[in-house]
Amino acid sequence: MAKIWKIITFYARFTPSYSAIGYYARRPFWRTLRPDLSGQTWLVNGGSEGVGAAAARAAAQAGATVIAVARNPDRLREFAASVKGPGQIVPEMADFSLQSEVDALLGRLQARGVKIDVLVNNVGCMLGKLKITSEGLETSFVTNLQSHYLLTRELISRGMLTARASVIEVSSGGMYNQPLLVKKLNDVGTGYEGVRAYGLAKRGQVVLTRYWRKAYGATDLRFYAMHPGWADTVGVRRSMPRFRKILKSVLRTEAQGADTVNWLAAARPDQAQEDVIWFDRKERTAHIYPHTPNSPDTAEDLVAFLEANTQAAGFGEARAKAPA
Ligand SMILES: NC(=O)c1ccc[n+]([C@@H]2O[C@H](COP(=O)([O-])OP(=O)(O)OC[C@H]3O[C@@H](n4cnc5c(N)ncnc54)[C@H](OP(=O)(O)O)[C@@H]3O)[C@@H](O)[C@H]2O)c1
Repeated sequence: MAKIWKIITFYARFTPSYSAIGYYARRPFWRTLRPDLSGQTWLVNGGSEGVGAAAARAAAQAGATVIAVARNPDRLREFAASVKGPGQIVPEMADFSLQSEVDALLGRLQARGVKIDVLVNNVGCMLGKLKITSEGLETSFVTNLQSHYLLTRELISRGMLTARASVIEVSSGGMYNQPLLVKKLNDVGTGYEGVRAYGLAKRGQVVLTRYWRKAYGATDLRFYAMHPGWADTVGVRRSMPRFRKILKSVLRTEAQGADTVNWLAAARPDQAQEDVIWFDRKERTAHIYPHTPNSPDTAEDLVAFLEANTQAAGFGEARAKAPA
């Protein structure tokens, strides 16, 4: 009975806001976006389908060159061909569950002299059971968080972000259930729970964004964490079939899920509070339950942990430095 009540209160609380209902209720109050992004270079990981692809498509249609990163080369090519300019999609293959592949991607982009104006750390996954990568880390943790850290840190320290770049972390409302618990992030033990691992990593994205904002507050770099609401994507179909069955008539489109990504990149809004997540073009509290704000772990603990994983894998000594 308690479980059924929990499910009812969950859907009653979040459906009006996170589904397309919330999007349509808020949209009349928004200004239409018509940014000219010609000359900009974007990097969107998880960029051949879902929310990432929708963000990439909108940016390319506004004139940007978008490096879209994913694993499947055929889907990447198909997606690139489906996007009509004036901008373009440049496909790049990398598996973000492996730091070595992120490192190789960085090497390729650096060799081409690429400078990024907008980085969308969108790639993410929720797994049903424990899967440890060939590098010894839990797959969803690396995909959702560790690889985002490595990519951002290296783009900054190699001078591959432009001085006014924006870094946008695509987190999830799933982070509301979890506090920052650094030691639980790379959960390779028994009793693995995919939803929990996902929520912990998604909380980590929000805290990591807070860390970058503080570290680079004196520069023109902008860091935002956002969540897309509930969008009907291949990831939702694969990882949450029951959820999708119940809600499919009211789920957002991929473009509706991506709207706040494109808006943040275009508007570069000031952020009033530190511990927030952007959703539907507005900054919102990062905590709705009493058990999440008072974590014993700090943003510095998180970054020390991510840095240790990066260094253990042999990817560089230097911490990211502010661009000159
Ligand atoms: N959809 C929602 O309702 C929702 C709600 C809250 C938060 N989010 C967050 O929004 C982000 C995007 O969600 P989504 O639903 O659009 O995801 P999705 O449908 O699973 O995204 C698929 C995209 O990610 C790529 N991808 C998957 N695993 C990858 C990996 N290991 N390395 C590189 N690329 C990979 C896929 O291409 P390949 O398979 O070819 O690699 C494809 O381009 C995620 O971070 C998710 O947690 C989504």
